[in-house]
Amino acid sequence: MVNYIDANSAPLRNTGDIRLYDEEAFEGMRRAGQVAARALDGIAKIVKPGVSTQVIDDFVRDFGEENGALPATLNYRGYKKYTCTSINHVVCHGIPNDKPLKEGDIINVDVTYILDGWYGDSSRMYTVGAIKRAAERLIEVTYQSLMIGIEQAKPGKTTGDIGAAIQEYAEGERCGVVRDFCGHGVGRLFHDAPNILHYGQWGQGIELKPGMIFTIEPMINLGKPHVKILNDGWTAVTRDRSLSAQFEHSIGITETGCEIFTLSPENLHKPPYDCID
Ligand code: MF3
Ligand code: CO
Ligand code: CO
Repeated sequence: MVNYIDANSAPLRNTGDIRLYDEEAFEGMRRAGQVAARALDGIAKIVKPGVSTQVIDDFVRDFGEENGALPATLNYRGYKKYTCTSINHVVCHGIPNDKPLKEGDIINVDVTYILDGWYGDSSRMYTVGAIKRAAERLIEVTYQSLMIGIEQAKPGKTTGDIGAAIQEYAEGERCGVVRDFCGHGVGRLFHDAPNILHYGQWGQGIELKPGMIFTIEPMINLGKPHVKILNDGWTAVTRDRSLSAQFEHSIGITETGCEIFTLSPENLHKPPYDCID
């Protein structure tokens, strides 16, 4: 059973109800989403061989402070950083550290800011110097997976349509779709109902309605979909150690389709590719 409730009267906890937000909320999400997007644009200029993920984390800390935005991940369930930085076979929730990035690495940086109570959640891939052709292909397939999912995000479609579209495309490209993590309702909470699975069946799940706000954030592997969590309790890696990539947008369902709150103002949605082979 799924209930739809007016966001204004909804208590600030995840009740399993799906909130329907108004135009004022969309404006709040636009503003929060754009702080995240601008930070991700800034990161594109920082990522290079020799730079550590801690430097990226420091940038996200400073950028938030300069823009009056709070970091959503800091102290979230005991997490101690401003970003997640997931390199190569790390699927998600990689913890920033002082190890330098090296030529050929691919890295996802996931940023969530809270601005005036609204959560803007987005992530992108970056490349470190020249990368292998296979890594370029994975990043491209993952970016297209996100955008193909977003194409389904409109009234009358279902959460299952989003998952099915992504799964059909990514598996058609002989890639593995991670099952253990999903997109989520977002807005005045970080992780709210509904879950947005990146696999599924056409027509199944929850019907999409104007006013729903959620993320789509497919994690796609060059190998099998399976993941394991390292002893730090956070870092998720591919079991077969194959490369993994992810992109994430926060979106809101409109009368005719959806609005992407976290679009790059500088058109840096995906990295420029420079390949070795
Ligand atoms: N930003 C992640 C997401 O897309 C969540 C990170 S939670 C953390 O939902 F604690 F790992 F930072
Ligand atoms: Co998210
Ligand atoms: Co995120």
